[in-house]
Amino acid sequence: MSKVYVEDLSKHVGQEVRLHGWLYNKRSSGKIRFLLLRDGTGVVQGVMAKGAVADATFELFDQLTQESSFSLSGKVRKDDRAPGGFELDVTGMEIIHVAKEYPITPKEHGVEFLADRRHLWLRSARQHAIMRVRHRIIKAIRDFFDDRGFTLVDSPILTPAACEGTSTLFETPYFDLGSAFLTQSGQLYAEAGAMALGKVYCFGPTFRAEKSKTRRHLTEFWMVEPEVAFNDLNDNMDLAEEFLEYIVQSVLRDRAPELKTLERDVTKLQNVKRPFPRVSYDEAVEILHKRGIAFEWGNDLGGTDETVVSENFDRPVMVHRYPAAVKAFYMKRDPANAKVALAVDVLAPEGYGEIIGGSQREDDYDLLLARIDEQKLPREAFDWYLDLRRFGSVPHSGFGLGVERTVSWICGLDHVRETIAFPRMIYRLTP
Ligand code: 4AD
Ligand code: MG
Repeated sequence: MSKVYVEDLSKHVGQEVRLHGWLYNKRSSGKIRFLLLRDGTGVVQGVMAKGAVADATFELFDQLTQESSFSLSGKVRKDDRAPGGFELDVTGMEIIHVAKEYPITPKEHGVEFLADRRHLWLRSARQHAIMRVRHRIIKAIRDFFDDRGFTLVDSPILTPAACEGTSTLFETPYFDLGSAFLTQSGQLYAEAGAMALGKVYCFGPTFRAEKSKTRRHLTEFWMVEPEVAFNDLNDNMDLAEEFLEYIVQSVLRDRAPELKTLERDVTKLQNVKRPFPRVSYDEAVEILHKRGIAFEWGNDLGGTDETVVSENFDRPVMVHRYPAAVKAFYMKRDPANAKVALAVDVLAPEGYGEIIGGSQREDDYDLLLARIDEQKLPREAFDWYLDLRRFGSVPHSGFGLGVERTVSWICGLDHVRETIAFPRMIYRLTP
């Protein structure tokens, strides 16, 4: 008898197969017992009739508690009323392990209760759907760059200095060398990669000791960062919009059942097609003023401001040329206006806020050194980075996409904590 997964049942109609999984639910009606088995690829109902199995097997039903592990043998039957389209007429069953009383029941639980049991919560249908969408997004990210001639050059996680401001650094002792910091972004190394390989990306976990306790912030999150030699800000925006369209359309095509489980309104995602609107920071400020918001030129856009700006559009909006003073040291100033940086943030629709941050990089040695000094960053730690401006410096650009914010938006979630298997936040380091 072949061992199969629920997702492959369509290939075995009329055949006798064996499934392994956990008990999702059960009920009985007269001489029939119904068992819902989930195996990670789907859920299928097994129908066990008295007489169709040995009496001892039929009795096993009573021992099966929620989340007990077991195997079911039976004949696959097509049934259009069944959730997955198939049912199993059970001929045999074996219990592998009888679960103790499972803490997560179909009733409502508070989010902290569930977060404390994240290792079990992942088994729930909703979390299962989110993880499947996350994986598809990550695959789309890799496919997108791999299919376009980018080389993956991963950046180190232990680094000697800050990349995105000194206020959110996680510090750790590092042998005789003093302190190391968990990386906030792989960008500086990706720039070195781009000078060696032209088009590169790095993709890994990044860390920010964020004091912000918002629905958009984690202390550990995944970021993908492409970096391209000879790309200017416009090229960077072209790349970002093609990239986002590709991700969203891949998920829509391949994860429709999961989006349905999540009750996501997919019509909003269908709009995510190029070209995306591009507005300057100045225009964004005008939008805020028209809405009666007393926003002062020079400030960074806050979460609420981002929501208000994005409400004007039915797809992601690219806001470019922010005041240089609120952006990172490595961003190139606009030759047409030294007050603004050649930066771009991509704001997701529906109030999800910034999902991409990027820029054209300062490629002039003297200007970059001046920025490093202005921001009181340690020169020694950036000497290697300055080499990129000493030896064949070229215009170049890149950006970083936060995976968790992207998952949150595409799944339509209230909080990023559900977008990663084991979230890390100021108040949460477990499980
Ligand atoms: O805008 P950020 O800080 O940009 C950088 O780190 C650049 N070095 C990237 C680059 O140009 N290569 O972060 C990029 C993205 C944000 O737009 C957001 O999606 C995500 O990373 N992000 C966070 N996600 C979750 N929790 C946090 N605390 C995040 N901080 C940033
Ligand atoms: Mg940013």
